[in-house]
Amino acid sequence: MKGIILAGGSGSRLSPTTNSINKHLLAVFDKPMIYYPLSVLMLGSIKDIMIISTPCDRPRFEELLGDGSTLGISLTYQEQEEPNGIPEAFMIAEDFIGKDNVALILGDNIFYGQGFTTMLRNAIKHHQHATVFGYRVKDPERFGVVEFDHQQKVLSLEEKPAEPKSDFAVTGLYLYDHRAVDLARKLRFSNRGELEITDLNREYLKRGQLNVQLLGRGFAWMDAGTHESLFEAAAFVRNIQQRQGFKLACLEEIAYYMGYIPKEILYQKGKSMEKNDYGKYLLEIANRKHTQQYWEAIDRNPMLGLVENE
Ligand code: TTP
Repeated sequence: MKGIILAGGSGSRLSPTTNSINKHLLAVFDKPMIYYPLSVLMLGSIKDIMIISTPCDRPRFEELLGDGSTLGISLTYQEQEEPNGIPEAFMIAEDFIGKDNVALILGDNIFYGQGFTTMLRNAIKHHQHATVFGYRVKDPERFGVVEFDHQQKVLSLEEKPAEPKSDFAVTGLYLYDHRAVDLARKLRFSNRGELEITDLNREYLKRGQLNVQLLGRGFAWMDAGTHESLFEAAAFVRNIQQRQGFKLACLEEIAYYMGYIPKEILYQKGKSMEKNDYGKYLLEIANRKHTQQYWEAIDRNPMLGLVENE
């Protein structure tokens, strides 16, 4: 499966902060926002990833993440001239997608939770047609809302409904087969002048080919698109990290435990930043005695971590 991170847009809700810097390069506590969606794709074992941003911001992303080789993955870059809507990503990435399946994640979405990796890998493994991820929220009327039956087959999909048919919002992570490209091409601009991802999902729904994977109460899903939510996301990341001593979305750590990079690279990266906490954390991992299997076991059973923690 290929991966796409959509990191264009106008970021107008974060103005004036975003007047001269792309939203996805802003820090969410101790690392750039784009690290979070990139970590999701990496945890899903997706190694071939395209980052789509604006023509003016593309060089900044390239400077930050390069070709991905230091993470053991492949990163390529493309531009979206105007924020014409999320489904435009598929037209831009047509050649990149080819005949593959594709996971699209919005650059300002943060996912976290016990067993997230296992859930995502299963969703990718069993994926057919189109899959969206539903998350229960208090204010579904602000989101795309998905109604589904007991087999998690989608019954309806509504954008910001006045009377929501369920409490489940559609998050900014989507899995599609390659037909998303052709289906996106046929979409019309909405009243707000954008191609809408809900319209693309409806095309799959019409064919009975839209599934929903629910994220239970043990998961956190946030977007960091407003000053309030950016602040809350940063506080959330800080609190978890402070409490547990693990970092969220530490790309080098993930690359190391996925077996994409050797310990030496992790160590070198840590050394290059040893004056800050991020670098110190990488050095600490490089010096850990436990294996990847140990941490995967903890992901499946958190009690193990409490008993055997270093
Ligand atoms: P939004 O939050 O809907 O839009 P935005 O980022 O432009 O911000 P604002 O509403 O404050 O003006 O976008 C959700 C995500 O999708 C965000 O990470 C940016 C990305 N995006 C694009 O890259 N291109 C687009 O055309 C759109 C609509 C969004």
